Amino acid sequence: MNIAIDGPVASGKGTVTKALAERLGIPALDTGAAYRGVTLYLLEHNFDLHDEKCILMNLKKIDLRLYLADNHEVRVFTQGQDVTGRIRDNRVSLAVPVVAAYAGVRDYVNQQIGLVAAQGDFILEGRDIGTVVLPNAEYKFFLTASLEVRAKRRQADLAAKGEKISLLAVMQQVKERDEQDLNRAVAPLRQAEDAIYIDNSALTLEQTVDMMAKYIKL
Ligand code: DC
Repeated sequence: MNIAIDGPVASGKGTVTKALAERLGIPALDTGAAYRGVTLYLLEHNFDLHDEKCILMNLKKIDLRLYLADNHEVRVFTQGQDVTGRIRDNRVSLAVPVVAAYAGVRDYVNQQIGLVAAQGDFILEGRDIGTVVLPNAEYKFFLTASLEVRAKRRQADLAAKGEKISLLAVMQQVKERDEQDLNRAVAPLRQAEDAIYIDNSALTLEQTVDMMAKYIKL
């Protein structure tokens, strides 16, 4: 059984997915981590992120690998190094939509995701899981929240890492990332027709997970 969870930045997908995975005893994979791993590598190796051709020529060198830890965290390796600790830096968050828009990057990442997902039942979380990666998933959810709620969550995440940014600036960043994810030509962020839509702006984590779990028959 596969469960697809899609939604925009800071919609709570990551936290909800982990909690749902715990509740159901099904492993979860955060696919955004893979795009972040590729982006981090490109930034750290001084690639011009707008030079698609050069990036595609060097993709294989990155040797992206995804491993699942027991706590439902995905560990991301590039060139044999565990880079998970750096993939959520704000510079990666701001650059990743550019990289995730390249069809060649998406094919490469989807191959790595496929290797993990082939190992059994999974909850996959991302932007195009219900529409592209797992179009036949038994359960699909589209999780979102208002821009302000999402920006507040993002601001709190950044503050926890010592990055202080005003709410207005975070709202602007979230809006820009939404536009990039929604408007790209390949696999844009969309709600699958058969996905269950959940706006969790006014819901607690537990209420959101309860709502989702009610749909799922194990
Ligand atoms: O969920 P996140 O913020 O960690 O995702 C990072 C980026 O990767 C975001 O710009 C969207 C992109 N992404 C994607 O295009 N497709 C996915 N399945 C998952 C993430």
